[in-house]
Amino acid sequence: MNKIYIGTNLKMYKNIQQTKDFLRGLIDNTKDLHDEINLFVIPSFTSLPAAMETAANSHIMIGAQNMHYEECGQFTGEVSPLMLEELNINIVEIGHSDRRNIFRETDTELNKKVISAVKHGFTALLCVGELLADKECAAADDILNMQIRRGLYNITQEEANNIWIAYEPVWAIGVNGTPAKLDYVQERHRNIKQELRALFPHNEIPVLFGGSVNRENASELIAADCVDGLFVGRAAWDAEGFNILIRNALHGWKNDFLIKDIIK
Ligand code: PGA
Repeated sequence: MNKIYIGTNLKMYKNIQQTKDFLRGLIDNTKDLHDEINLFVIPSFTSLPAAMETAANSHIMIGAQNMHYEECGQFTGEVSPLMLEELNINIVEIGHSDRRNIFRETDTELNKKVISAVKHGFTALLCVGELLADKECAAADDILNMQIRRGLYNITQEEANNIWIAYEPVWAIGVNGTPAKLDYVQERHRNIKQELRALFPHNEIPVLFGGSVNRENASELIAADCVDGLFVGRAAWDAEGFNILIRNALHGWKNDFLIKDIIK
């Protein structure tokens, strides 16, 4: 990958004004980096129009946190791909751990969302991750492979160009999460890449890591084998702090290239 991927999901935290202020700060802080990173922000549904307006003509892509797979119908409380198309957003996040574990979305449902998202021209950011119990019985790779195979079922090679994966171990996410060890992250990412290559031999699908990413661990995580980007929660929600995290990550990524060049 010649550019790293860094983004944040604002979950159910920022209102419209806070989202606009955050984006303005982020655009200003990172405008010199537009050639080096694919930077994205995923605000709440209500903030999307304002976010699109604020980020217009900037280097920041905007995404939605969820989407229904049908274009219209009796689905009270849901948001359709056509409604998101009207806003011209770039990305749809699908299957975040909150969606899977609190709202009980299944792989089959998420697969329908992924298919619908790419058909409507969005980049589908499919989140996968194992529970602590899966990790403890050494079933993480099996679970991740299943989530990937089911989630990307019936996706064509061409559509795969619009898929990104976020690997987020459920036990590493949020205030009660335990940060994952670097070796562990690297092993899971290698496995995910292998699985993706088996499914889509002609595509290089980016795989981002998420779960307690912060400004201290960003540079070593991004330099880890098979990690193409970072998907950040809490540590990104202040534009200044996120800017520092991004610059640390870029530093780690570039150093890694330098080291590999020297070894070569
Ligand atoms: P966190 O959240 O960085 O606050 O752990 C990650 C996520 O939920 O994507």
